[in-house]
Amino acid sequence: MDKDGLSILDNRTNTTYEVPFHKGTIRAMDLRKIKTGPDDFGLMTYDPAFMNTASCHSAITYIDGDKGILRYRGYPIEQLAEKCTFLEVAYLLLQGELPTASQLKDWINNITYHTMLHESTKHFLEGFRYDAHPMAMFISTVAALATIYPESRHVHDPEMRRLQIYRLIGKVPTIAAYTYRHGLGYPYVYPDNDLSYTENFLNMLWRMAEVKYKANPVLARALDILFILHADHEQNCSANVMRSVGSSQADPFVSTAAAAAALSGPLHGGANEEVLRMLDEIGSKDHVPAYIEGVKAGKGKLMGFGHRVYKNYDPRARIIKQAAEQVFEVTGKNAKLDIALELERIALEDEYFVKRKLYPNVDFYSGIIYQAMGFRPEMFTVLFAIPRTAGWLAQWEEMVIDPEQKIARPRQIYTGYEERTVVPMDKRGA
Ligand code: ACO
Repeated sequence: MDKDGLSILDNRTNTTYEVPFHKGTIRAMDLRKIKTGPDDFGLMTYDPAFMNTASCHSAITYIDGDKGILRYRGYPIEQLAEKCTFLEVAYLLLQGELPTASQLKDWINNITYHTMLHESTKHFLEGFRYDAHPMAMFISTVAALATIYPESRHVHDPEMRRLQIYRLIGKVPTIAAYTYRHGLGYPYVYPDNDLSYTENFLNMLWRMAEVKYKANPVLARALDILFILHADHEQNCSANVMRSVGSSQADPFVSTAAAAAALSGPLHGGANEEVLRMLDEIGSKDHVPAYIEGVKAGKGKLMGFGHRVYKNYDPRARIIKQAAEQVFEVTGKNAKLDIALELERIALEDEYFVKRKLYPNVDFYSGIIYQAMGFRPEMFTVLFAIPRTAGWLAQWEEMVIDPEQKIARPRQIYTGYEERTVVPMDKRGA
């Protein structure tokens, strides 16, 4: 019996197998040797939704869901949100270390150099219907960047990868701002590279006839903090899509578009938009108890609550609550805040939510801040996708250079028919 492994007794054959531990797991491929005979394919694991399967080694983000801990490259999210800018954090995610002053200067220069969109991308955006959902426009336009930069498919060339990383981080705010202005029928505003990342984004969103738009520094910083909080979250649904699509050696533009598509779903990043719809539906504080009873009776979920990994308060939700106070000092309080606070208070005391360890997640309060800043709910997930692009790219590059990674290709348990014969049309009946 090996103390560094598992002994597995297969009762079908009365055979014992030794399976070594690998960093607190076992390798699924080590189970393939467990067979009933030479024609047996070997034992697989069944894990729909990856509830208990590690798909990679990663040194980027660490989460302890029971303790409510989130760290990027070892740094607690609370410290990063307090002491860093989003672009510093993006550098950290992609390079592994916080930048020195001169490294940061170069990094910012390289990213701001790539904020412009090719005019044909702008024309592409103009083709969308006036009421197209901004997230659908965002996803399609990010994918369309691959038509402008065909060299991006050279994913094994480190310099090419770096160039696409600059382009993507530089261009996603521009695309996001254009999707916003398109819906309002406003002319697009070109990037202003004298401004910081978030100031430039706010400029592209809200500048009208003025010569120079001056973003409110409190709002620009609050957005920067929100961007830091959303930058990465280890192997979540969209990061897994980024890695999975990227594993076929598809270029980073289409891989990022696929990841953004995964993010758009209401169970993932689309939840922030749904939270606002839910708060609208609830309408006032006194309707909260009845709404919670409805959720418990199975009439839908409490959006912005619960998480696959966090079984404690999401640390990002805590920081967002603090940022909200600063934003509301500038914008005035969002009337929905009282309903949200009441929902949280009642849910955190209710046995249904306590037993299932359901706490507010990052999406619960982010929408309330975004709305106070002037965004419509349709934009919320796009605001999530901008910073998460840095995380997706870090996950993608880590996957590309990992010699153990191959094209992602799960197995299945086939439950369909055995072989059968095609019946000609005239014999198939009515
Ligand atoms: N409201 C009410 N009940 C819930 C909620 C919720 N928000 N979330 C989970 N539950 C219940 C489930 O019904 C289930 O109950 P049961 O054991 O009686 O069947 C139990 O809690 C466990 O939930 P699962 O769905 O198995 O948990 P899972 O890990 O698969 O789902 C998820 C996690 C998708 C986030 C889920 O909690 C959810 O749908 N939340 C609402 C949507 C949301 O806020 N998504 C954003 C997540 S954060 C992010 O992506 C940025």
